[in-house]
Amino acid sequence: MNKQHIQNLLVNQAKVPQDMVVGAIEIPESTMGDFSFPVFKLAKIYKKSPNIIAQEISSNIDDVEIARVQAINGYVNFYLDRDKFVGNVLRSFDLSQKTFGNGHTICIDYSSINIAKPMHIGHLSSTAIGGSLYQMYKYLGYNVVGINYLGDWGTQFGKLIYAYLTWGNRQDILDRGIEGLLELYVKFHDCAEQDKSIEDSAREWFLKIEQGDIQALELFEWFKEITLKEVAKVYDMLDISFDSYKGESFFNDKIQPIVKELMDKGLLVESDGAKVVQLQDDMPPALILRRDGASLYVTRDLAAAKYRKETYNFSKCLYVVAYQQNLHFKQVFGVLDKMGYEWAKDCLHIPFGMVSLKNGDTLSSRKGKVVFLEKILKDAIQKALVTIEQKNPNLKDKDSVAKMVGIGAVVFGALSTDRIKDIVFDIDKALQFEGETGPYLQYTHARCCSILSKCGQDTLSPYSTDETIKCRGVDTDTFELVKLISRLDETIIVACNRYEPSLLARLLLDIAQAFNKFYITNHILSAETDVYSFRLQIVKLTQQVLKLGMSLLLLKSPIEM
Ligand code: ARG
Repeated sequence: MNKQHIQNLLVNQAKVPQDMVVGAIEIPESTMGDFSFPVFKLAKIYKKSPNIIAQEISSNIDDVEIARVQAINGYVNFYLDRDKFVGNVLRSFDLSQKTFGNGHTICIDYSSINIAKPMHIGHLSSTAIGGSLYQMYKYLGYNVVGINYLGDWGTQFGKLIYAYLTWGNRQDILDRGIEGLLELYVKFHDCAEQDKSIEDSAREWFLKIEQGDIQALELFEWFKEITLKEVAKVYDMLDISFDSYKGESFFNDKIQPIVKELMDKGLLVESDGAKVVQLQDDMPPALILRRDGASLYVTRDLAAAKYRKETYNFSKCLYVVAYQQNLHFKQVFGVLDKMGYEWAKDCLHIPFGMVSLKNGDTLSSRKGKVVFLEKILKDAIQKALVTIEQKNPNLKDKDSVAKMVGIGAVVFGALSTDRIKDIVFDIDKALQFEGETGPYLQYTHARCCSILSKCGQDTLSPYSTDETIKCRGVDTDTFELVKLISRLDETIIVACNRYEPSLLARLLLDIAQAFNKFYITNHILSAETDVYSFRLQIVKLTQQVLKLGMSLLLLKSPIEM
């Protein structure tokens, strides 16, 4: 029994119009039932008192899993038959991949790093939110295309080549990778403050890349290779991969056709020597070509969006990018719309807030003050190891558990608050085994595993065939836990609809808390055989749901920690 079922009962048995129920079912405080349906809107339409409508509806509902339907103060409250409900969940809970996607494709542009720049904590949110949406959509049965739209174009590459040829050293870059490149970049900006002319030299080098000069291209490709090798380490740690790495430079030869199309459609106008597209309202015009004829970030995104539609025929194309780029995406989608592409409405910016480190510096690669994500992850792993040494010194394979816990703590930190909120990341807090953290989920999961293995029951038969489950007189703690578990799929659906993995994070925290409460009041080892087996089934289901849910949030589930 879930919201969907209640909805069906209201439509089929009480003949409430479909559009009046969709999204209207509430989950009330537990004394008011397990589900509740407010009838005020209906009362207005039918010009009857809410209480009468509620009475009429409640007298028409009949279902084995519902013990009682109550009409009160304009609400229809549904009370579940606890025993039947819990029994049914245990017997029929389905953890397999769903088929809601129905052949639809979702493109997700996320992480989208910049070449020769470090991956810092600011990239964490995009990577974690995008990666999690990817997994959730996949679970719901969509085709998903993960795109790392590399920032591999722009004048900064001219600056870097100039800096490398002036001050750089091949061996040093080979040894220190992005850190060395970053240093060159910073040095360039320092010097440019004294001597503006080096900006011109940088522009010349960029022009050479554009014109295919061999030396320029070789260096450019080399910088790219170094960056990709280094970020691969982070993606490995996070266990994330992408279906496409087509970035800005890939679209170079697709810029001219876009410009021509804009011209043919009469959208391109001259402004101060540059070419722009005017947009509605008070939005500033979108800059398409600079005075010198160079294309811009917007131009390349237009080409990329069109390419994605042609290549993947997406139902939605999501751009998981910080809210600082709100205007950029409004402009891109606005231009696509003016070009007459009805699918412009399917391109969506999924913004998120700023992440800063507690005691951390502001993040600016120009000044070189940036904390590398790899370092943050490694520190977290190190700290997790210290905790594990204290709590469980005999644990086998401590290093690999510390890796799962440390990385899990960081990733969960990025996923557990509303994505739009700015967050100050406190690694010590995120690593605690108690509280609203990733390690708390992992710890609860490991606890389930340890109970199951102690009881020698980690291979309990599947619920659907297990008719021995006895659940008579289900207590409140068990009931509340199972109710939360039963919300898994609907929560994932809402999380995808709102592009908000934190909703799933919240549910898992609630499940973990409910489980720990259940575990205190429902003794297992000392229970009689049939109750014992029933409680163990609950533990098993909790373990499976936590494991699945965590995997959708990019968290690993160690069996011991
Ligand atoms: N590389 C960009 C940055 O770090 C993000 C790219 C986002 N995706 C896009 N299609 N514009 O700011």
